[in-house]
Amino acid sequence: MDPFVLIIFGISGNLAQNKLLPALYDMINKGILTDQITILGSARKPIGEQEFKELIITSIKNNRTDTYDIDAAKRLTEITHYIQGDLTNADFYSRLKIKLDNMKKNNESCNNHMYYLATYPNLYSTIFKYLESSGLNKPDCGWVRLMIEKPLGSDLNSAKILNKTLSKFFKENQIFRLDHYLGKETLQNILAFRFGNELFDPLIRNKYIDHIQITSAETLGILDRGLYYDQFGALKDVGQNHLLQMLAFMTMDMPKNLSNLEVTKERLNVINQLTINPNNLILGQYDGYQNELNVKQGSDTNTFFALKTTLNHPRLKGVPVYFRAGKKLAQAATEISVVFKPGKHPLFDQRTNNNGQNVLIFRIQPNEAIVIKMLIKKPGKSMQLKPVFMQFCYRNLPDTLPDPYENLLLDALEGDQVFFNNAAEVEAQWKFIGKFSKQKHPVEPYSPGSWGPESAVNLIRSDNREWLEPSMEFCQT
Ligand code: BG6
Repeated sequence: MDPFVLIIFGISGNLAQNKLLPALYDMINKGILTDQITILGSARKPIGEQEFKELIITSIKNNRTDTYDIDAAKRLTEITHYIQGDLTNADFYSRLKIKLDNMKKNNESCNNHMYYLATYPNLYSTIFKYLESSGLNKPDCGWVRLMIEKPLGSDLNSAKILNKTLSKFFKENQIFRLDHYLGKETLQNILAFRFGNELFDPLIRNKYIDHIQITSAETLGILDRGLYYDQFGALKDVGQNHLLQMLAFMTMDMPKNLSNLEVTKERLNVINQLTINPNNLILGQYDGYQNELNVKQGSDTNTFFALKTTLNHPRLKGVPVYFRAGKKLAQAATEISVVFKPGKHPLFDQRTNNNGQNVLIFRIQPNEAIVIKMLIKKPGKSMQLKPVFMQFCYRNLPDTLPDPYENLLLDALEGDQVFFNNAAEVEAQWKFIGKFSKQKHPVEPYSPGSWGPESAVNLIRSDNREWLEPSMEFCQT
């Protein structure tokens, strides 16, 4: 890995504390980071050197209880330095430039710079402008890259404006638009499962598939994220990005190769061709949401959505997809279920009901797995069938699953954009969500601990199908 300086804007915020610093710590712990790296973290308030070190140690202790190693944590504090400043003030960027230039002089080598914007998105444009006016966006002899995370806009129009602004200051190969789902091992493995095996992918066709369900259910509420969440809601928070990415990996055609260009092209192809009927969207809000910190009284923000769309690229044309996601639901589970058509000439009556259909499940979390629900003969005299799970469990592997932020930081440092979104992909995702928003949908209340409003059940039931409750039977300890 080339030596680099990682500049994290917003080092004291949630994202840096709970995701980035722990991922960097993991990389140190595994010996992946070279010695020649420096991390600069910025925030507004003055923080002394010792206090900053403690902030880092606390972040690691809180987020890596199982793997906490004092030496690795100390190493992280040694390479991470604080630069206080107001990101809306030119002075900050002048000081940053001097600091970076001095580092270059001291190292007597080119410096590569990665900027990570772990700030509120309303600061993005200001930061780009100042990076440009202070010359910090231009590579001299090393590289300059930028990592930014969702929300990338709040609708199609604002996403276009953001992409346009970005393109004024950076070239596309410098921009790493991050959706952490693309960094998840369990998602990346879908490509290996589908295109690395001869056995399964020929079945991913409309001839065999009845429908696909994608569930992303959380038992937690919005915690202390009211300021952000109340402006966005579930559909934009996870529907516009994570759930569409899951669908894209599950259904895209095989890319010609594993280059950024080809993989992104295929993902985009799925999203661009989805057909929708705006009536097929259900929104919900959990009871008690309005009492959460920083949520406006009378807010009609959705904390749950369920929607139906239909695939339209030739191999899967006409296959319906049902998405649902939400906070404070009955169970925490994220999974993709591909439900196969029942046999045309069933020999066994049990195959005719829903319980008898084969299902291919990608369990993204927890009990990470790839599972096939199939029927076997129930041992005994009579020919009775029963469903069982044929399972691959990640927990049986000797390897631990890397955090998605670790995967994506490494990719970005190597300049590999395969698992990042480009401008067109982000816009296609907003376009899809926007089509549903053409119509005003009621936001229906639901009880915490349920599966969302009753209308969500009716959405799929009206097609004579049922939501599959995520099973906790497979891949337990
Ligand atoms: C984030 C959303 O992008 O993804 C959160 O903002 C959500 O609201 C989270 O909880 C889910 O990520 P994961 O990795 O826990 O499934």
